[in-house]
Amino acid sequence: MARITASVYTSHVPAIGVALDLHKTQEDYWQPLFAGYDFSKQWMKDNKPDVIFLVYNDHATAFSLDMIPTFAIGTAAEYKPADEGWGARPVPVVKGHPELASHIAQSVIQQDFDLTIVNKMDVDHGLTVPLSLMCGELDPVKDAWPCPVIPFAVNVVQYPVPSGQRCFALGQAIRKAVESFDEDLNVHIWGTGGMSHQLQGARAGLINREWDNNWLDLMINDPVACAKVPHIDYVREAGSEGIELVMWLIARGAMADVNDGQRSGPLPQVAHRFYHVPASNTAVGHAILENN
Ligand code: DHB
Ligand code: FE
Repeated sequence: MARITASVYTSHVPAIGVALDLHKTQEDYWQPLFAGYDFSKQWMKDNKPDVIFLVYNDHATAFSLDMIPTFAIGTAAEYKPADEGWGARPVPVVKGHPELASHIAQSVIQQDFDLTIVNKMDVDHGLTVPLSLMCGELDPVKDAWPCPVIPFAVNVVQYPVPSGQRCFALGQAIRKAVESFDEDLNVHIWGTGGMSHQLQGARAGLINREWDNNWLDLMINDPVACAKVPHIDYVREAGSEGIELVMWLIARGAMADVNDGQRSGPLPQVAHRFYHVPASNTAVGHAILENN
């Protein structure tokens, strides 16, 4: 049986990808941010997964206002890094896991979550920046990402976006789906995006350190209560793009201590936790949780 053994949470910011790709990680501005991921890169080597189920959001790259799936699962064999206006990032092509992805699509749709199935798409900074933060710099041709990745895109860009509650319930369905796959696979689930940031309007540049850290405490220790946080709180407290945080609840809902919408049994171990302000306009949050 396949099992989810850990969850990883991290912000994404396009400028982080640029800093990596232009070898600026040791510059004064960037060094403290990348230092927060030194533990994580070693942890990835020590706890190498067979598959990463990577929850992220597309930023009008693969999708656009023409077509807005709420939840989209990638079932392809590979995904190319997208050109977001400055050329594709020089990182390896992302290999998929069509067998597990198709199984999860079947199981989760049968559990009454309507997923869009995607057989062809490019992946933007929402997916490649978390991978780079956790895996470090890789040669686009000679190297490969450590394992196959199943991209799972959530619409948090164009309203109406899904609630934290729905994301949390979806995470539970994803765990059931993974655990009903026959092959013995060690699966990690990642929730990405956030934390506080607002890229537009009168409040552009908003950062809310206190709210972010309280939310992170709640997400880790009382995810049932965290799932009830309404959209308006994210937007008011964490800025218009702070809503990306609902994606972290998909990963948290897939952990072993969440059953039938309630917490039971021991909390996951917090292997690592990090917070840094700012990276571009964004408050960067990061955590690694391991199932007991
Ligand atoms: C920034 C953050 C994002 O989440 C994003 O998608 C684009 C830009 C930023 O802080 O620059
Ligand atoms: Fe974003």
